[in-house]
This record gives sequence, C-alpha cells and structure tokens, in this order.
Amino acid sequence: MAVRKVLKYGEKSLREPSKEVHKVSKKIQDLVQDLLDTMYANNGVGLAAPQIGVNLRVFVIDVSKNDEPFNPVVFINPKIIKKSGAMIKQEGCLSFPEAYTDVKRYKNVMVKAMDIKGKSFVLEAKDGELMANAIQHENDHLDGILFIDHCVNRFEADEVLKKFDLPPIDADMLLEEPELEKLLQDEKD
Ligand code: CO
Repeated sequence: MAVRKVLKYGEKSLREPSKEVHKVSKKIQDLVQDLLDTMYANNGVGLAAPQIGVNLRVFVIDVSKNDEPFNPVVFINPKIIKKSGAMIKQEGCLSFPEAYTDVKRYKNVMVKAMDIKGKSFVLEAKDGELMANAIQHENDHLDGILFIDHCVNRFEADEVLKKFDLPPIDADMLLEEPELEKLLQDEKD
C-alpha cells in the first residue's frame, strides 16, 4: 500500500473526534495497511488513523524491539474496559517530531477491539509496559486528545514544543484527572 503523510500538531484532524467503523471492508483493511506502512517508515510504536487525516476509530501498535520480528496489533473500534494503577512516563508522538514530555497514565489497561478480520478480541497490558502507554495514547487520538493534554508540567511541555517549532500547549485541552492524581498519590504513600 502506501506510506502516508503524518499530520503535525496544529492540524485540524488531530483534534477531531473519529467515527466508528461499521464494517471491516477492503477500504478499512487498506487503511490499516497504510497505517502500518507509515508507522514502520517512521519508526513509530503506534499510529492512529486521524494522524493520516482519516477520522475513523482505527489504530495500530507494534511494541517489538528493533532486533525482534514485527508484531503489529490492529485495533478497530477499541474500547478501554478496565484501567488501574497510575504512572508517570515520558511519551512522544509521530505528530510531534522529536518532542517528548512526561505524562500521567494508567499502569494497567484492558482493551476490547476488532482485528483486521473484524473479529473481536480483548488485550490486557500490565505493570506499565509500553503497550499500556501505547493503547491509552492511540485511543486518545480517536477522541482528538493528544499526549500533551496529560502532561505533568505544562511549562516544561511548552518549552519542549517551542524548541521543536510546534504550536504551544492548548490550555483549553489540558485534562483534569482527579482519579489518576489520586492513584499517583497512593503510589507515593
Ligand atoms: Co500519537
């Protein structure tokens, strides 16, 4: 298929909510292939459809290391059905080239989705493994939410964005996360 252009922070599609997929048609399978091609071409861990300008609820993740074989996981109409524990971890995004910042995330998540054949599956990511971050990060893209909205320190995040010529933090989009804050506090105690 094709390597598509990855939209950069500031472009409209990234802030728009995505629509459910009604049928895993050939068109959707082609979209998945483009997402995979584009993710691998950019050495990414994940990529969501809105990042290539398609506002549909589809994303792909591959957490395999460089010396391991490819291990792509396709998520269509994903839903996070369980989440617990909290952590702070550094994240980046292909729509924010070179910019990394600390974000608040759940440590364990369970997600239900459909695969490339339209078959339903459940996947659990635990103990703050990369897959846990990736699922939350990519799932957010489908709701127009970006990793910087979860940042631990908005001033620090703003500095990073400025350094890489990206638009500033969108203050209206910063998330209040009392549940996560409480879990983070519990971890400290
Ligand atoms: Co991203």
